[in-house]
Amino acid sequence: MSRTFVITGTDTDIGKTVFAAGLTRALNAAYWKPVQAGLEDGSDSGRVAVLGVPRASILPEAYRLTTPCSPHRASELDGVKIDPSSLALPEVDGALVVEGAGGALVPVTRTLLYADLFAQWGAPVVIVARTGLGTINHSLLTIEALRQRSVPILGMAFIGAPQEDSEATICTIGSVRRLGRLPILDPLDPDTLLAGFAECFALEDFA
Ligand SMILES: Nc1ncnc2c1ncn2[C@@H]1O[C@H](COP(=O)(O)OP(=O)(O)OP(=O)(O)O)[C@@H](O)[C@H]1O
Ligand SMILES: [Mg+2]
Repeated sequence: MSRTFVITGTDTDIGKTVFAAGLTRALNAAYWKPVQAGLEDGSDSGRVAVLGVPRASILPEAYRLTTPCSPHRASELDGVKIDPSSLALPEVDGALVVEGAGGALVPVTRTLLYADLFAQWGAPVVIVARTGLGTINHSLLTIEALRQRSVPILGMAFIGAPQEDSEATICTIGSVRRLGRLPILDPLDPDTLLAGFAECFALEDFA
């Protein structure tokens, strides 16, 4: 299997795509968003391209669904049936970064959650979490849900202003590695992301 990293998060809009773009660039990896739900405001594949991931490194989505909601519902609204067998990890040369949708217990179909898919894939998962209020609960819930399904967790990637105690509390109680913390980048562009990612994360953690 290719060296694969799966990016999930404690919620939607948490910074998974920004982190995934940074990791993809740091590893010269390929990027894959298996199911894109919501097309009007652009796609995550489009957003990683804007953040400097070469178009040739972005694999096509297996499903592109119109409505910005959970894939199980977005597919029904489009009259599309998601076939889990079409969501097998693609083989690529080099590393692969895969981004889920929303959080770990978002339904892909009415009988398959993202966390179940992660368990089938067996690749290490990075949990992206905000540093702000509420993150301890959301992070520990996510860790428990993944562990219950025997999903390998690589560690936590925090996004936002430093909250040392929250970050340490999550990693201690959850027994997970703290991979690093990306601050809010202003501006957020290909250059600041590349530099910020290199400063805040250690490539050895993704070896
Ligand atoms: N480190 C950061 N610095 C500046 N802006 C950020 C950072 N991380 C995320 N953002 C901004 O926050 C918003 C949400 O980020 P992002 O699209 O990465 O979330 P997501 O978790 O991938 O969402 P979704 O569940 O829709 O896939 C975007 O507008 C993004 O540009
Ligand atoms: Mg995203």
